[in-house]
Amino acid sequence: MHLLIPAAGSGKRMGGDRNKLLLSLREKPLLAWTLLAANAAQSIQWVGVIAQPDEWEELKAIVSDLGLNRAVHFIPGGKTRQESVHNGLNGLPDTAEQVLIHDGARCLVSPALIDRCASAVHQYPGLIAAIPVKDTIKQVLPNTRQIQHTPDRQFLWAAQTPQGFDVTTLRKCHEEARRQRWAVTDDAALFEKCGLPVQIVEGEETNLKVTTPVDLAIADFILQQRHA
Ligand code: C5P
Repeated sequence: MHLLIPAAGSGKRMGGDRNKLLLSLREKPLLAWTLLAANAAQSIQWVGVIAQPDEWEELKAIVSDLGLNRAVHFIPGGKTRQESVHNGLNGLPDTAEQVLIHDGARCLVSPALIDRCASAVHQYPGLIAAIPVKDTIKQVLPNTRQIQHTPDRQFLWAAQTPQGFDVTTLRKCHEEARRQRWAVTDDAALFEKCGLPVQIVEGEETNLKVTTPVDLAIADFILQQRHA
């Protein structure tokens, strides 16, 4: 299975001007934990990290320090996650029929979840890891923040990565998005907009996306428990 890791974001919501994936988490850069999980997943044969070229040197040093048993390929990032994944799809080898996409920022993913998604994508050409939401979610008016709608929580799931797709179909969805100027925050949304089914695979509560300093503290705690 081919795995693309979008890692070309900035650290704005983390409160810094550096890529948050280079921040230190239990004595390793955050992205190193994601790469170790990918390396331990039996299903993954090919890994592509999508990153801004001015960070490649630093990232290559991180990869070489980890002593991974698989080569890691580098693909240039875009201005948005959507653009980064588009670049990633173009950087896949011709032999890639299915792909898993996993955000570099979800550094606590288990190798078992990656393997479960890799196995399920043969059955479902569009799938995502997700978990039921714990909070009641409100849809609001953007300016006034007045509540418009409360969707029934029993039907709400929080999207995670890995997300797995048939490569040819996902490429077509990305091209359609460019033509229609759709802007989305995950790849499943492009499948949905194209009228294609996307299946949920049960994700993990600990598979959080490290976005804010609080997430970083929680990730630190979880890793401490795992490696105690
Ligand atoms: O910003 P956010 O945390 O939602 O980003 C999700 C993932 O997408 C992160 O791993 C981030 O590095 C990546 N990303 C990217 N290219 C961008 C923006 C975000 O690869 N331009």
